[in-house]
Amino acid sequence: MPKTLIEPFRIKSVEPIRMTTRGEREQLLEEARLNVFKLHAADVLIDWLTDSGTGAMSSRQWGAIMEGDESYAGARSFYRLERVIREITGMSHFIPTHQGRAAEKVLFTAVCKKGDLVPNNSHFDTTRANLEYLGVEAVDLVIPEGLQPALVHPFKGNIDLARVEHLLQTQGDRIPFGMITVTNNTGGGQPVSMANMRAYAALLKKYGKPLIMDVCRFSENAMFIKMREAGYESASIKSIVQEMFALADGCTMSAKKDGMVNIGGFIVLRSDEWMDAVRNMLILTEGFPTYGGLAGRDLEALAVGLEEGMDEDYLRYRLRTAEYLGERLEQAGVGFVRPTGGHAVYIDAKTVLPQMPVAHYPAWALCNALYLQGGVRGVEIGSVMFGRRLDDGTETYHSMELVRLAFPRRMYTQSHFDYAAEVIAEVKQMAAGIRGVRITKQPRVLRHFTCECAWV
Ligand code: F0G
Repeated sequence: MPKTLIEPFRIKSVEPIRMTTRGEREQLLEEARLNVFKLHAADVLIDWLTDSGTGAMSSRQWGAIMEGDESYAGARSFYRLERVIREITGMSHFIPTHQGRAAEKVLFTAVCKKGDLVPNNSHFDTTRANLEYLGVEAVDLVIPEGLQPALVHPFKGNIDLARVEHLLQTQGDRIPFGMITVTNNTGGGQPVSMANMRAYAALLKKYGKPLIMDVCRFSENAMFIKMREAGYESASIKSIVQEMFALADGCTMSAKKDGMVNIGGFIVLRSDEWMDAVRNMLILTEGFPTYGGLAGRDLEALAVGLEEGMDEDYLRYRLRTAEYLGERLEQAGVGFVRPTGGHAVYIDAKTVLPQMPVAHYPAWALCNALYLQGGVRGVEIGSVMFGRRLDDGTETYHSMELVRLAFPRRMYTQSHFDYAAEVIAEVKQMAAGIRGVRITKQPRVLRHFTCECAWV
């Protein structure tokens, strides 16, 4: 058997990408005020800003689009998707939303109150923001291994059960539910083991608390379980997924990830208890319950995409691409969060720019350098994203300086990965000449999206 693991698809429709010169990129980045979020996507060669809503749909999905029933109430497309989601999740209630954060907002507004507290392995930033907006404390309790970039552990997304139990004992009356995020995006796209989810669910049950899962990347998590957790070697992805959902009382989903679509999300709930409040919030902010902020065609594409996302050949290739880039980075002496995650590789910028003071934002500087060198766009997860400028002008910094390269699904081929690996290796070689930045203009919150910078 040949060893090469190929992309398990062929290409039917192509989208040209444009090579720019270094000179052009220097000017474009200056015009973007040294912030890659402000670049036009047409000026980016390899766009690894996010894996969210950026992937390629299959010919089956495009075919399904034409089947969309755009009726306001009771559309056929809703019932088709509901059947698929019930089969996968086993939940009675399926509530479509336009994307993940809308699912969060609708659910949290319906069931949380000011002063509550929600534990999670790591809250994604919109999850945290939606909770904090309601005056709810979002507490991250990932296992200590999950916070050490270079440490190899099969399930770095696991939640620390002892700390959860301590919270349940001391502040139980503030906790409306426990959450877990699969895979743990904020912690490097790291998986959660079935054993950990089972124990967490049992612990919450002991204290009478429901378990809500953030399941954006549930298929990738299931593939990691199959590859790494004893007893699941020969289980099908679907059976692993069903076993996982059986532990939950409800879920929020951004279908822009493992739903394999460009827009969409949903909530699922097992019991009727919260349904009236959830439905009222949905109608107020998203739409009627049988479309919830989506077109009928979006529901059709998602019904197909959820099934395709669980295909084992696809998932094996998907996880392997990240691992492959990790191997190339290792050869180049570039550090990254280990093992590589499901949807992304997180470069440890301090291993490329060890001399650069954190006040010059090394991960931001590396992000800019990758664009200038080869037109590759990643996202900084460091002190611009998570640091703050306080009213007295002083700064707080993040504990890690990472650059996330997140891979759109079914979009880039191995030669794109080889090219990007070369660009990263070249940047590492030229590290001494890479300049840091200072922030010249910034909003008070979520500054990374819109801040303006200048070279130090
Ligand atoms: N939960 C997780 C774990 C996520 O990664 C995201 C989005 C959301 C919720 C929110 O979903 O974007 O559909 O509203 N993550 C994207 C990213 C934006 O780039 O990681 P959304």
